[in-house]
Amino acid sequence: MNYQIQSFAEYEEVYKYSLENPEAFWAKIAGYYKWSCLWREDKVLDWNFNEPNIKWFEGGKLNITENCLDRHLETLGNKKAIIWEPNDTNEATRTFTYKQLHEEVCRFANLLKNNGAQKGDRICIYMPMVPELAIAVLACARIGAIHSVVFGGFSAASISDRIQDAQCNIVITADGAFRGAKQIPLKSIIDEALVSCSSVKKVIVLERTKGDIEMKPDRDVWWHDEIVKVTADCQAELMDAEDLLFILYTSGSTGKPKGVVHTCGGYMVYVGYTFVNVFQYQPNEIFFCTADIGWVTGHSYIIYGPLLNGATTLMFEGIPNYPDAGRLWDIVAKHRVNILYTAPTAIRSLMQSGLDFIKGKDLTTLTKLGSVGEPINEEAWSWYHEHIGRSRCPIADTWWQTETGGIMISPIVGLGVTKPGYAMFPLPGIQLVIVDDQGQEIKGNNVNGNLCIKFPWPGMLRTTYGDHERCRLNYFSTYPNFYFTGDGCLRDSDGHYRITGRVDDVLNVSGHRIGTAEVENAIDMHPDVIETAVVGYPHAIKGQGIYAFVICKQLPKDEVNTRNEILKIVIKEIGAIAKPDKIQFVNGLPKTRSGKIMRRILRKIAEGELDNIGDVTTLLDPEVVQDIKRRRL
Ligand code: WT7
Repeated sequence: MNYQIQSFAEYEEVYKYSLENPEAFWAKIAGYYKWSCLWREDKVLDWNFNEPNIKWFEGGKLNITENCLDRHLETLGNKKAIIWEPNDTNEATRTFTYKQLHEEVCRFANLLKNNGAQKGDRICIYMPMVPELAIAVLACARIGAIHSVVFGGFSAASISDRIQDAQCNIVITADGAFRGAKQIPLKSIIDEALVSCSSVKKVIVLERTKGDIEMKPDRDVWWHDEIVKVTADCQAELMDAEDLLFILYTSGSTGKPKGVVHTCGGYMVYVGYTFVNVFQYQPNEIFFCTADIGWVTGHSYIIYGPLLNGATTLMFEGIPNYPDAGRLWDIVAKHRVNILYTAPTAIRSLMQSGLDFIKGKDLTTLTKLGSVGEPINEEAWSWYHEHIGRSRCPIADTWWQTETGGIMISPIVGLGVTKPGYAMFPLPGIQLVIVDDQGQEIKGNNVNGNLCIKFPWPGMLRTTYGDHERCRLNYFSTYPNFYFTGDGCLRDSDGHYRITGRVDDVLNVSGHRIGTAEVENAIDMHPDVIETAVVGYPHAIKGQGIYAFVICKQLPKDEVNTRNEILKIVIKEIGAIAKPDKIQFVNGLPKTRSGKIMRRILRKIAEGELDNIGDVTTLLDPEVVQDIKRRRL
């Protein structure tokens, strides 16, 4: 790619240019893509952070799948686009060349149209990590339908909230999913979710596990029955740069998850640019991102980023510790993976399994490593560097969010210095600011505060679906004129950035984002529960664990039983990923005189810092703190 940065000096130069001429900078990058009609020259960017209103490349027309697929057919038609590794080691690998993938996407796009899908429709995708998931995503994009992928670990109630919020008319799912030794009955979970979703008219079901399922006449159709009815000829729908490409639900500090909205033009330009630069992708390399497509990492760096650049992307159906903790290394060896992009949680858990699982595995093809999703502790960073990268692969610790669309702070891998635990530098076009609690910018080095961004970038969210005011309140009102990330951050004496974790009520458990309010609301549904406060605490493998302080009508007689009932409710309302690690029954919660829960105190208790609780004199009843401390788990 012509916009690949080649040296650290070039990065510095490009970065400086991008600050001084952001529109010219992004227009030039955008110019490398295939547009059916270019944006109006004076309309590269239109913005204000008050409403907010953000528009990139207005008037430009494109289809992202033409950029991911059609554009490569002539030169890379026979190159592998996707290599798929199944959950079960005895099952065969499947590969798709760019030509084959193009064909499958066109076919499935026609299938969608045959089943009533139209441009602008919202389509919910709840599928296992099989190639058909990528095909479904791209097929939606091809016909201009907006995909809303829901991670396979969410419960029926969560899916139903998301489907209702977006008013989806079609669901794409599978009979079930293989995940390690387990099977997840996706279709029956969808059936349960759809009881309260009258907007859904069609469910398209892929056969994967061959488990027993029910097909509802008129509503449910099999993928394999429908696919034979269509041709592989499907023209891409022309989309405006600012038309919606997808919605992805993510947790915030209040209320239910919100639908983060990304648009066709800006997202394309941003993920394409960041993929090829951060990972310094070279034409024949095989890129393996271990994320699930249900999260933004999978959207941006399994599907769109690699395909936009004609790369080979490896997609893995299973989990890192099945059949054993050597699985990722077996995959690297088997497919001769060059770039591995994974999460600190996976690294920490494999690290704990011991070095035996790495012994004898051929990891010599690896050239570059990446980390994403949570702060990576120094120990995990060093282990990753020494044992996986064999001390010769540079690591990119990449910081970004669902809302940012793509990577924002990261080393350009292999160029320049790195420092364990540091995401290092902003990418070109990204204008970071650190502000104090009053919103004053803290300049200079050796400082820390709240991380904000002061200028738009093409991949940023445009709104939260159906509720623009929520978008404004959440991201643009805390510190006027800035996009607020919700993260704390420090800039060291050399200007390197380190993300210190969330400063709001959002948890990051095993790299999964969970709102404390969501967990609290679920727990409060238990008939004996009066009030709950949930906080995070440091967890050796998961990064953060979930600690719930629960007031019941009276202290439960059988704590074990009540705890199990509460866990069941959380699993039902959200999914197993949100299960509290600890549930402590308390008589009261530390509250201010105005009734606000002092989470700071609960966090200290959960962390075990019992002697360092701070001032409790402003509490309504300081005695409750003693009581909670005494009975701490
Ligand atoms: C939150 C975003 C980015 C895709 C996966 C997660 C945390 C993410 C890092 C990192 C420290 C990180 C932040 C951020 N986070 N990457 N390299 N170092 N923290 O996306 O679910 O939207 O979560 O993950 O706290 O705000 P997400």
